[in-house]
Amino acid sequence: MAVNPRQAEHAITKEAQASSAIDHSRIGLSVAETAAIDRSSRGPVLLCFFLSIIWLLVGTVFGDISSFKFDRPDLLTSQPYFTFGRLRPAHLNVMVYGWASTAMFGVSLWLMPRLCRVQLKIPAVAMAGIVLWTIGVAVGVWLLLDGVSDGLEWLEFDHRSADPLMAAGAALVGASVWKTLLNRQVSHLYVSIWYVASSYPWFLIIFTAGNLPVYQGVESAAVNWFFAHNALGLWLTTINLGLIYYLMPKIIGRPVYSYWLSLIGFWGLALFYALNGMHHLIGGPIPSWMIATSITASIMMIIPVVAVGINQHMTIVGRFGAMRYSPALTLLVLAAMSYTAVSLQGILTALVSVNRITHFTHWTIAHSHLGLYMFVTLSLFGGIYYILPRLLGREWPSRNLIRAHILLVGFGMVLYVVALGIGGVLQGLHLLDANSSFEASVNATKPWLLMRSVSAIIITLGHVLFAVHIAWLWLLRDKTGPEQSPFFYVRPILVKSPTKVPGR
Ligand code: HEM
Ligand code: HEM
Repeated sequence: MAVNPRQAEHAITKEAQASSAIDHSRIGLSVAETAAIDRSSRGPVLLCFFLSIIWLLVGTVFGDISSFKFDRPDLLTSQPYFTFGRLRPAHLNVMVYGWASTAMFGVSLWLMPRLCRVQLKIPAVAMAGIVLWTIGVAVGVWLLLDGVSDGLEWLEFDHRSADPLMAAGAALVGASVWKTLLNRQVSHLYVSIWYVASSYPWFLIIFTAGNLPVYQGVESAAVNWFFAHNALGLWLTTINLGLIYYLMPKIIGRPVYSYWLSLIGFWGLALFYALNGMHHLIGGPIPSWMIATSITASIMMIIPVVAVGINQHMTIVGRFGAMRYSPALTLLVLAAMSYTAVSLQGILTALVSVNRITHFTHWTIAHSHLGLYMFVTLSLFGGIYYILPRLLGREWPSRNLIRAHILLVGFGMVLYVVALGIGGVLQGLHLLDANSSFEASVNATKPWLLMRSVSAIIITLGHVLFAVHIAWLWLLRDKTGPEQSPFFYVRPILVKSPTKVPGR
């Protein structure tokens, strides 16, 4: 289908109209400067997005088969490659390191030059980092499917081959991010810069510490969860919060509500999150002061979570209508709300009385996907919807495909989380009941697991549509350079008073 530039209210155009207002007024960069900055990061960012979509599709297949195996345990059992014990960690690692982290490299490499108002520094080094990281993930997945695993959740990749390649890859991408930061042309560091820049040293420290092959027994379990929880909080969460903090105000044409709440949100996270890890081991054989500290720190997380929630809500309030025109904004708002929801659910789960019921049940899987899908993945989808057309200099070809994608993944994941949330609590209550059998606890979860498999099919369809749409955008012929793209000079429509936009 040919693109009709006159098609009314093209989603991305309107969103771009608003952002162009900010490009000219608040940030003060000329159209040509913004285009030059985007051009400097174009190669590495496009490479990241291309690779991440491939990983998303691979991880989806692994997740689907893992889910179907709960309904049909005899499915694909003749091949060792397809057994649950290999597919599940392959799904986790592909989604976390292949899909989410690679897309987050792309987001960081696009965000930092824009925020620092300089061209991306050492892009070739970033490219080399992305390639090394991807080889590391591919080697890790291959070995996992072949039965070679380090045996610790989130750290399953082989520490002799895959992990060093990934560490080197992240270090090189981080070097490009930090060199750009050090050459910045701004004196004030916007909150997104703190989140994105600090994520790289944090990730390298925890990834290296987590993978050192020196821990024994309980010590190893403690380090395992120190790593995994901080990978969630100081890597997956931080870069996506940075993205939301940048794009949400930009799309609606309004500054972030409170600078001080941003500060509290960032430093509260930095202070309390690192102490949270042991709440994964509540009831386990580790010193009780460690568990008590982690539960206290989990409860303290209410401070940064509420600060971020209020700040983002007050930024968008009154402008929710803009979501009709901007798919990126819709996804980012859903992601921001899910961040608050998953964190409050997590704080509840960390309480001993709740954890007694929910630990070792599907409740935790519901929580995982509320966080890693409804927050992290939707935020990355939003970022890709916003960034890709600007880098390619052309608009998304089909509004309907965007709508269908958002509806399918949104509805599918709500079904997933609700089904496993209910199934998990029922399972936990059966497991705690001395008069109930283990078989009864399994039977109680069956309908909910079937519902999860239905949701898996719906989400998969959404992922396929997304990938097809990206390929379509990529292959479009009517290429225009970013300078000629409508994103950069159409009149702002979401900024109420044109008089507020200086220089126009
Ligand atoms: C098509 C969408 C998806 C489906 C069908 C799916 C399915 C599954 C299944 C069946 C499991 C194993 C559950 C168990 O052991 O009881 C799982 C675990 C997991 N998945 Fe997904 N998943 C999807 C998307 C994602 C995404 C996008 C991410 C990350 C960005 C992700 C991250 C994880 C993680 C971290 C776990 C381990 C959770 C835990 O141990 O608590 N999944 N998923
Ligand atoms: C204040 C914030 C949060 C708290 C207090 C919290 C608390 C918890 C607790 C207690 C568990 C362990 C449950 C158990 O095994 O019994 C858990 C697991 C998990 N959380 Fe959170 N959570 C928070 C935020 C998040 C966020 C933002 C994400 C995603 C970005 C997330 C993703 C996960 C995942 C993936 C797991 C499962 C890990 C695994 O078993 O593989 N959490 N969380």
